[in-house]
Formats: sequence, C-alpha cells, structure tokens
Amino acid sequence: MSIRPPAGMLDAAAAQARASTVRSQIAGCGSYLPERMVTNHDLAKLVDTSDEWIVERTGIRVRHVAAEGEFTSHLAVKASERALAAAGTKADAVDLIVLATTTPDETFPATATRVQERLGMTRGVAFDVQAVCSGFIFALAVADNFLRLGQAETALVIGAETFSRILDWQDRSTCVLFGDGAGAVVLKAGRGNGLPTDRGVLSTRLHSDGRQHDLLYASGGVSSTKTAGVVRMDGPKVFKHAVEKLSAVVEEGLTGAGLTSADIDWVVPHQANRRIIDGVGKKLGLPGERVVVTVDHHANTSAASVPLALTEAVGDGRIKPNDVVVMEAMGGGFTWGAAVVRM
Ligand code: UT7
Repeated sequence: MSIRPPAGMLDAAAAQARASTVRSQIAGCGSYLPERMVTNHDLAKLVDTSDEWIVERTGIRVRHVAAEGEFTSHLAVKASERALAAAGTKADAVDLIVLATTTPDETFPATATRVQERLGMTRGVAFDVQAVCSGFIFALAVADNFLRLGQAETALVIGAETFSRILDWQDRSTCVLFGDGAGAVVLKAGRGNGLPTDRGVLSTRLHSDGRQHDLLYASGGVSSTKTAGVVRMDGPKVFKHAVEKLSAVVEEGLTGAGLTSADIDWVVPHQANRRIIDGVGKKLGLPGERVVVTVDHHANTSAASVPLALTEAVGDGRIKPNDVVVMEAMGGGFTWGAAVVRM
C-alpha cells in the first residue's frame, strides 16, 4: 500500500527529483542598523580600554546600538522590507521565514512570527533558528532545503540581533566587540529545464561541537537561571579555533559545489575580528580585495553580520550577478558553517 504524502509535500522520489533541478536563488537583500552609534572613545569612558587597543586587536572603530524599546523584531522587519523591495517581491508571496537570532524579543513565541505578523503575512511558516554567530548560515541552509524539497517557494532568511542586551558592560574583554543590526535575503526557488540552474545556493556545510561550550556562552538561560545571562568568552582560544575551522569549512563548501578557491569572486565572512578575516583569507590564498570587511563600522553583530556585509557589497556594486560568493561564520556551541552561492 502506498502512503500519500501530506498535502503540500512531495513524495520521496518527487522531492529528490525537484532537489536536483531547483536552486534557491537570492532575489534581493536588505539590512538595517539602529541609529545610535557608539565609538571606541565612548567605550573608553565606560571601561578601561582605548581606541588604539580595540582597532589594533579587532579592527572595530564603531558599532550601532539599539534604542530603548527597539527590539530584534523591529530591526528584522526593517531589513526584511528592504530585502523584499530589492527583490521586487510582496510579503504575501513569502511562504517561509527563517530568522536567526540569539537575542529574541521574548522567550516565546519565535521572533520570526512577530516579523510575519508585521509584514502582513498570513500564510506559510515562520520560525527561529539558534546558532549564535553562525545563525545566518544555518538559517540559509534550512531555507535552501525547504525550497529544494518543495516545501516553500519564496523564503525570507533573516539574521537579526540586539546583542547589546546580553553584554556585560563592565567586561572590557567582550563589551567592546559587539553591535546590533539585521540583514535579510529573499530566496526564490529557481528552476532549470530539467537541470539545475547555474545560479543560486550551490552548497552549504554546517558543523557543531558541544565540547567547546565553555569557550563561548551566555552565563544564564531560561531553564537554568531564569535570566538571559551575559556573554562570556575566552577570546584567544576562540580565535585559534576560528581561523582553522573557517578555512576548513570553506574548503568543504567549495568541494561540495565542485569549485576551488580560484573560482571565488567574493568572500563574505562573519565579522568578528579583522585578524580572523585576514587569517582565513590568507589560508585560502585570496587577495584582500576579494574579502568584504564591515567589522570596522558594524563590529560583531552575531547572526546579522553576514547578511549586513552581503547587503553592503551588493548595494555598492562590488558583488554582481553571477559572482561566486562564499559566506562563512563561526560562533558559540561551537557552531560553524559555510555557504557557496552564485549570485
Ligand atoms: O563571533 C564569535 C566568535 N568570536 C570571535 O571570533 C572572537 C575571537 N577572539 C578575538 O577576537 C580576540 O581574542 C579578542 C579581540 C577577543 C582579544 O584579542 P587578543 O589579542 O586575543 O587579546 P587577549 O585576550 O590575549 O588580551 C591581551 C591583553 C590582556 O592583558 P594582559 O593579560 O596582556 O595584561 C587583556 O586583559 O589585552 C587586555 N584586554 C584589553 N585591553 C584593553 C582585553 N580586552 C581589552 C580591552 N581593552 N577591551
């Protein structure tokens, strides 16, 4: 007896056939940064630090910080509206929202459902994913799988954070590193004539390793302390893992896409530290001009960092249609991943 798949879902054979002919194409991207900017000099009035130390060790000069009453969902909605406008897509065409955040508005419901409601979307499905700074890559991989398996046609993939809310403003080793912001992309299922189209998400690779928990975590949580906690990090140890893991996962992503580093037009890395970005670029043998850097004016915006950087480089014309773009990120967990996309 054959079992019929639920309405809207493909059976295994049809899903496999679709997955081999459909690619998730980036139809548009958008971002939003809170108005308030905090410089290194401002932070030097709060903790024992200096502009010189922060610039030399991280490359960061300024970060944006959300206003009181401005939540992750507000940033996410603004970035999404801009991404939809860039894609020429109306919100009612979207049937999937995957929102990556570590700083949701509320413990529940998912911040994605707030975004769904404010965009005026009354159908489809919206949910959050949590992979800290790697969140956008994880969300992109989830949405890509939904689209290729026929469970959605048009997705909004969002990275949005108000990390300033979980910083210990007395801890100079972390409070100078982060900022707030949001970025979003519209993904559309693109079809070839029985063949994969050559544009879209070519491969994604994700990893996690729970053994590294103690190097980067929040000091609280709903179930353990009934508070959100604050960021705790062993920076130098995270740094060492970062260059190694990010270079390796980019190589994996390239292999999955049948490409080599010589095929890369642009790397859009997670923006945690200029020295990590340069280290990964060097390991991959990429000239610095092929790497998008925004850490100087955004700082580390966790899940928002990759879509913020992508939007900037698409917006100023550096990234063009058909360019091969590699996105990569690493964060608490540890989690890390890469996505290879032909724009
Ligand atoms: O997005 C998630 C992934 N996160 C990351 O990738 C972050 C990875 N780690 C890093 O980016 C770097 O390790 C940091 C930027 C966090 C730190 O840079 P570092 O070169 O590894 O410095 P350090 O932690 O070894 O500290 C060097 C010195 C220490 O003083 P002593 O022990 O040498 O006297 C720190 O106490 O700098 C001191 N220090 C500071 N000084 C001025 C630490 N933070 C500050 C500060 N201002 N803000």
